Amino acid sequence: MQPVLRLRGISKSFPGVKALSDVQLDLYPGQVTALIGENGAGKSTIVKVLTGIYQPDAGTIEIDGRAARFPSADAAAQAGVTAIHQETVLFDELSVAENIWLGHAPRGRFGLINRAAMRDGARRLLDGIGAKIDPDARLGDLGIASRHMVAIARALSIEARVVILDEPTAALSHKEIQELYELVETLKAQGKAILFISHKFDEIFRIADRYTVFRDGQFVGEGAMAEVNEGQLVQMMVGRSVDQIFPVRDRNIGAPVLTVSGYSHPTEFADIGFTLHRGEILGFYGLVGAGRSEVMQALFGITTPSKGACKIAGQVRVIRSTAEAVEAGIVYVPEDRGRQGAVKGLPIFQNVTLPSLGAVSRAGFLRMADEFSLARDYTQRLDLRAAALDQDVGLLSGGNQQKVVIAKWLATKPRVIILDEPTKGIDIGSKAAVHAFMAELAAQGLAIIMVSSEIPEVLGMSDRVIVMREGRIVDEVAGDRMTPETLVRAAAGLAVAA
Ligand SMILES: Nc1ncnc2c1ncn2[C@@H]1O[C@H](COP(=O)(O)OP(=O)(O)OP(=O)(O)O)[C@@H](O)[C@H]1O
Ligand SMILES: [Mg+2]
Repeated sequence: MQPVLRLRGISKSFPGVKALSDVQLDLYPGQVTALIGENGAGKSTIVKVLTGIYQPDAGTIEIDGRAARFPSADAAAQAGVTAIHQETVLFDELSVAENIWLGHAPRGRFGLINRAAMRDGARRLLDGIGAKIDPDARLGDLGIASRHMVAIARALSIEARVVILDEPTAALSHKEIQELYELVETLKAQGKAILFISHKFDEIFRIADRYTVFRDGQFVGEGAMAEVNEGQLVQMMVGRSVDQIFPVRDRNIGAPVLTVSGYSHPTEFADIGFTLHRGEILGFYGLVGAGRSEVMQALFGITTPSKGACKIAGQVRVIRSTAEAVEAGIVYVPEDRGRQGAVKGLPIFQNVTLPSLGAVSRAGFLRMADEFSLARDYTQRLDLRAAALDQDVGLLSGGNQQKVVIAKWLATKPRVIILDEPTKGIDIGSKAAVHAFMAELAAQGLAIIMVSSEIPEVLGMSDRVIVMREGRIVDEVAGDRMTPETLVRAAAGLAVAA
């Protein structure tokens, strides 16, 4: 079969980084190719080369066997290549329909933009992917999952032959992920060539026909999914085998640090009560939408519970703002680190030390050397891949930006840290580093709440697991009961097997 798109010898350097070095990639009609590699391997960079955002330093692009060049994003779109990027480029101030049609709006007589056609077209595209979103809504008023659906509708509005999805499911709920898989099937059936980037192996094995692996900006190999197993892919990706063994739990669980009782919210959750101890990792499991993140947001003062009490280190505290939470020693690393996380334009080290300036300033002066060493310590432990710590955080790969956000909150040395999906978007090799660091901090007495939808992570890391369903705690699992089956059944509201 002839590839629709064929890249050969593509290289791309940035100051201090060779992001891509002589890589190749082939995409075939009606097939999904998974692009796999660690954080910083060059996946998003090749996507940007393919969509005319970056110009390669060397190499060739062929479409249907003919040489092509994409000097601009428009040129790539004209040639039928469209992408949904990891950090989606949409405009908050514009409506949903305007975002979908920006740059290629349907035009009527005299070349005027046809607003009615825009709205109808937007509605049809959104309906087609099962998204119930008003085309007239202002984009800035939508949640992340809906924004993602808008980005997908936009990609579909461009008559594309090649569709690129860069970590599309990272921000979606379970139901939306199913819808996205169906969408990918539809695109395949239409003969489109699809490039799919993901760190989730179950997903890759489910929807990809082929794979291509990059490591450190280099092409490592490609082939049919049917002919590899997970271990082989990981080996190609990381250059060594990674056993999914979690750090040994040799922690001393100490006195209670956080006691929550009767926490309720008018719409999101009710009667939440639990105790968290020094040195403990408490897992929160549930289906997406079970209310876990909402509880965490209330504990961090982003929202205020309508009822209930919270005791921190023996003192009853009312937390009405994030400042009060930080002051009480609670910090929260949200799931949506893109929007609430890294401060682009600032160097990595300042991003890390921003909230802990007290610890690195003496007599009111900021000591750059201290700032640097604090940042170096925390980012190294999280396996950050960066050219230098004074580099702009906005230039890091998506997964590496997430590591900076985690480092930043850990560096504040809180009493309690809440990590919401800590390893989402983080590659399989770096995951082990993040887990090891969490275990080490717990051993030093930090109390950790970990919200995770990944069962191996929840079971491998937690001392106890609280299961939530429809805004309530439905089970607390420890010891011998910590099994996948118990968690899944409790989260789904099924009777527990005797
Ligand atoms: N505009 C830029 N300026 C400087 N460096 C850059 C720029 N864009 C990317 N890089 C660097 O190129 C390398 C590859 O980054 P890329 O975003 O392609 O990684 P990725 O494989 O998508 O990783 P992730 O899984 O974390 O999303 C990284 O070292 C990154 O810091
Ligand atoms: Mg990326």
